[in-house]
Amino acid sequence: MNDGTIGLSNFWLPKQGSTFAKHVDFAWDVVTWVSIFFFLLIVVAMCFFVYRYRRRAEGEKTSTVDHNLQLEVTWTVIPLAIVIGLFVVGFRGYVNAAVAPGDAYEIRVVAQKWSWTFFYPNGAKTLNELVVPAARPVKLTMSAKDVLHSLYIPEFRVKQDVVPGTYTSLWFEALEPHETALECTEYCGKDHSNMLAKVRVLDAAAFADWVDKANAAFANLPPEKVGESVYNKICNACHSLDGTIKVAPSFKGLFGKQEEMGDGSKVAVDDNYIRESILNPNAKIVKGFSGVMPPFQGALSEQEINGLIAFIKAQK
Ligand code: CUA
Repeated sequence: MNDGTIGLSNFWLPKQGSTFAKHVDFAWDVVTWVSIFFFLLIVVAMCFFVYRYRRRAEGEKTSTVDHNLQLEVTWTVIPLAIVIGLFVVGFRGYVNAAVAPGDAYEIRVVAQKWSWTFFYPNGAKTLNELVVPAARPVKLTMSAKDVLHSLYIPEFRVKQDVVPGTYTSLWFEALEPHETALECTEYCGKDHSNMLAKVRVLDAAAFADWVDKANAAFANLPPEKVGESVYNKICNACHSLDGTIKVAPSFKGLFGKQEEMGDGSKVAVDDNYIRESILNPNAKIVKGFSGVMPPFQGALSEQEINGLIAFIKAQK
């Protein structure tokens, strides 16, 4: 797991469980060693000067020097270069962590007081146990039912707030089969400290096998099927699947499209936009249409909303 390099991370950071860990720990090491170096340099120099230039007699002036431009430029420019270097190290890691690869395996997460539920693409569902394949990018698309939570997997070096009424996401690629911990890191009430889940990393074959069995065990419909049944019950009167315009925009090719709104602004159709358009349709109205759709806030379960989004995504 660890590539054997000597770093403080071996001493006080958790085991490196994902492809991010090496980079995060490198950034951590750089910041820590730079801080230790300058702490010692400054404190030693300070002690030396305090002693060397101490006042020995009443009225004694310790030095005639009151200014040194060269010195001041040096101690400004060198730290500036160092903090720019730290920024580059951190920013590269941040950008990499912020954008999931397009082919990531997507798992939906619902957080609530005080448990985690995970929904897999085939309809399988787990409570307080996240099962993921090793050596494959996994994207978590997350939402909360009640209050703010935050999903944190220390060994993967990933953490992201989970917010009611919107989707946030993170991704990681676990290195090898093992078990680790997932915790909530946003104070969310009495049992916040018990809001834990197990993360089980399986190799590709074992994962495929597990997710099939898990689905059969729960006998749940896949999200897309849930979405289809909701669509057939309530959406199909106004939204077509073949591109024809009835009362409202068609779902065909909708996901990922840029839509122009009545006020001329452009909105990319993504998870959050669809969710908002289901729960509060009048928030953004596509140009050429009138706001006749009723809000579905409270009428649809999280599973049904996720299902509808998956269904709309599939209408290519
Ligand atoms: Cu959920 Cu703290």
